[in-house]
Amino acid sequence: MRTRKAILPDAQRIHGLISAYAGDGTLLPRTLAEICKDIRDFVVLEDGGAIIGCGALHLYGTHLAEIRSITVASAAQGRGGGGRLVKALMAEAKKQRVGCICLFTRTPDFFAHLGFKTAQREDLPDKIYKDCHSCPRFHACDEVAMVRGELPKFAILPEPANWLVKLQA
Ligand SMILES: CC(C)(COP(=O)(O)OP(=O)(O)OC[C@H]1O[C@@H](n2cnc3c(N)ncnc32)[C@H](O)[C@@H]1OP(=O)(O)O)[C@@H](O)C(=O)NCCC(=O)NCCS
Repeated sequence: MRTRKAILPDAQRIHGLISAYAGDGTLLPRTLAEICKDIRDFVVLEDGGAIIGCGALHLYGTHLAEIRSITVASAAQGRGGGGRLVKALMAEAKKQRVGCICLFTRTPDFFAHLGFKTAQREDLPDKIYKDCHSCPRFHACDEVAMVRGELPKFAILPEPANWLVKLQA
């Protein structure tokens, strides 16, 4: 097994891997068009030439990056592939001089193994402004926010226009 940066011809397979876990809400659904646009965020996991897993690192700035869309095909789980993907994304974050990596998950134990600690989503305003504020589960979020590194001290994204209304709803 090895990881490598994804290229556009991998997009269809990445779409299939994510879609397999998007139906039950384990992963956020990603369209093929979004995956193509963000292909440079993705790392794939290969075994014998076949792609068996993927993950992405979204960069906000040196203060924050987010691990997203991480998955290993069900038949290949439990062999260290998920750990390899997270480590490859952490290495990329280090290369980009990112001080804090965050993620939202329903499998916190897997990420705790890899040095992530639970956090408050309010500690990650960029993530909230980008995704959470438009999520139908904003007031009933069942995902655990986790971070590795120093919490960001500022946000780079503007507060959404409906932010106060959303908070008070
Ligand atoms: C979570 C996932 C990526 C893990 O991939 P994997 O290849 O099975 O993980 P690994 O074999 O690298 O496991 C690494 C360690 O984490 C542990 N682990 C794996 N999955 C776990 C889980 N769901 N809960 C708790 N611990 C878990 C393993 O026991 C292993 O521990 P060890 O190093 O002490 O042996 C994989 O189960 C998956 O694709 N799940 C569906 C999608 C998903 O939930 N993605 C995460 C959403 S944020």
